[in-house]
Amino acid sequence: MAPDNRIAICPGTFDPITYGHLDVIRRSSAMYDQVIVGVVNIPWRKGGTVFTTEERIGFIERATTDMDNISIEPFSNLLVDFARERGAMAIVKGLRAISDFEYELEMNQLNRKQAPDVESVYLMASAKYSFLRSSGVKELATFGGDITELVPDEVAKALQERLGR
Ligand code: PNS
Repeated sequence: MAPDNRIAICPGTFDPITYGHLDVIRRSSAMYDQVIVGVVNIPWRKGGTVFTTEERIGFIERATTDMDNISIEPFSNLLVDFARERGAMAIVKGLRAISDFEYELEMNQLNRKQAPDVESVYLMASAKYSFLRSSGVKELATFGGDITELVPDEVAKALQERLGR
């Protein structure tokens, strides 16, 4: 039987949040009663982030004010443990390209072994965001590319200030 309050986790590093992430979060919020955006808070992971955890959370908070079943939380343990602690029934992620599929298939096998009770759900990226990733946006910002249609305005401004040459 489905639980009364169906909670999903949308996890990521979100360094920074893009319109592609927001599309997945918005679609998840229509599918579940409550969506927790889980922001990875491990400073040394993948060589560090451009924005602090607090900054990344702030960007997401201000970009999701029109969604009333969203909360944003940092986490620094295994994703499946975080999901279990919050009573989530699902982890929701976006899939953009075949390269995502290979990585996510591996993550899915690992996560399922650790926690068979937490299902992973994959949403196909909307076509206009299928090649959008935070690392690409940072590269564009570094070399003065136009990122205004890829991230919220305040994120574009912050990226240009922090990375622009
Ligand atoms: O691509 P991202 O944004 O760095 O993805 C982060 C996350 C947590 C979604 C991804 O690393 C993942 O699915 N990890 C599962 C393994 C795990 O729990 N690692 C510890 C926390 S990073």
